[in-house]
Amino acid sequence: MSTSSLEFDQWLQLRITETESVLNTVLPLAEQAPQRLHEAMRYAVLGGGKRVRASLVYAAGEAALQGKPMAAAQEKALGLAAAAVELIHAYSLVHDDLPCMDDDQLRRGMPTVHVQYGEACAMLTGDALQPLAFSALAQMPVAPALVVQAMGLLARAAGSLGMAGGQAIDCDSVGKSLSQTELQTMHSLKTGAMLEASILIGGIVAGASSSVRQGLQHYADAVGLAFQVADDILDVTADTKTLGKTAGKDAADNKPTYVSIMGLEGSRNLLQELAQNAALAIRPIGASGLRLKQLAEYIVDRDR
Ligand code: IPE
Ligand code: IPE
Ligand code: MG
Ligand code: MG
Ligand code: MG
Repeated sequence: MSTSSLEFDQWLQLRITETESVLNTVLPLAEQAPQRLHEAMRYAVLGGGKRVRASLVYAAGEAALQGKPMAAAQEKALGLAAAAVELIHAYSLVHDDLPCMDDDQLRRGMPTVHVQYGEACAMLTGDALQPLAFSALAQMPVAPALVVQAMGLLARAAGSLGMAGGQAIDCDSVGKSLSQTELQTMHSLKTGAMLEASILIGGIVAGASSSVRQGLQHYADAVGLAFQVADDILDVTADTKTLGKTAGKDAADNKPTYVSIMGLEGSRNLLQELAQNAALAIRPIGASGLRLKQLAEYIVDRDR
């Protein structure tokens, strides 16, 4: 199906719906034993979320096709890849919210997984969601070499050289004042790595040429960082109801953020600069980069 004539909002809703339908099928049923764990996994993954990483997978896939129609197998593979990145992301949120990390009670407008199911179950929920992501990638109906590349990228992005490593730095930074370079490293790892992987995997699965991959990489560098700068700003400027998570939590916990280091105005200026970098990076990709361009605008302008 061609999606090129859709308005951005319609396109985004379509990709969210597709992703959630794949997530629904790859997650074990809540009736299947161990029921409580499966129920918690579904609770963690299916209860909302903007699905930005999933949308980036699709947008990068569309960019890679350079106007060619999307084959049914590519559409299916992108859906599984979109589900995979959301599974890792959901697991990272469950662990991020644990009392030993950010100790948060509210996520996506609902009680966090450990509040609802207890800490041990929340830990296991994260443990179980992580391999499920790789199992989703393993089912992609594309050339095995592409599946292996996608798995390698996701493994690196989620691990100690990516998200988990960034989270470790985050834990060690509470109450400390970081330099801007240190903060950028932390953000690029804890958040940027998974956004980057989403973009690159989307491109790989859809057979991106090396020049498109290069554009995607530069775009990912800007958007990955922009996402967390926006998250830091929203923690200060948005209210709990809109965010679906407790506002003002970073300052309350004494976390170094872009706002604590550069102030609100400095952070907003940086965000605009990163948005411009993102737009410039995908210019060589041409018209098929439209959804990436729109997603970058959405990421910097979002209100939650
Ligand atoms: C929140 O991510 C955690 C960060 C990495 C900043 P999102 O803002 O994408 O959370 P959901 O998926 O929409 O709930
Ligand atoms: C979390 O960053 C990044 C992850 C890897 C989950 P935050 O701790 O700022 O995310 P929120 O604000 O709780 O969503
Ligand atoms: Mg955190
Ligand atoms: Mg947190
Ligand atoms: Mg935050």
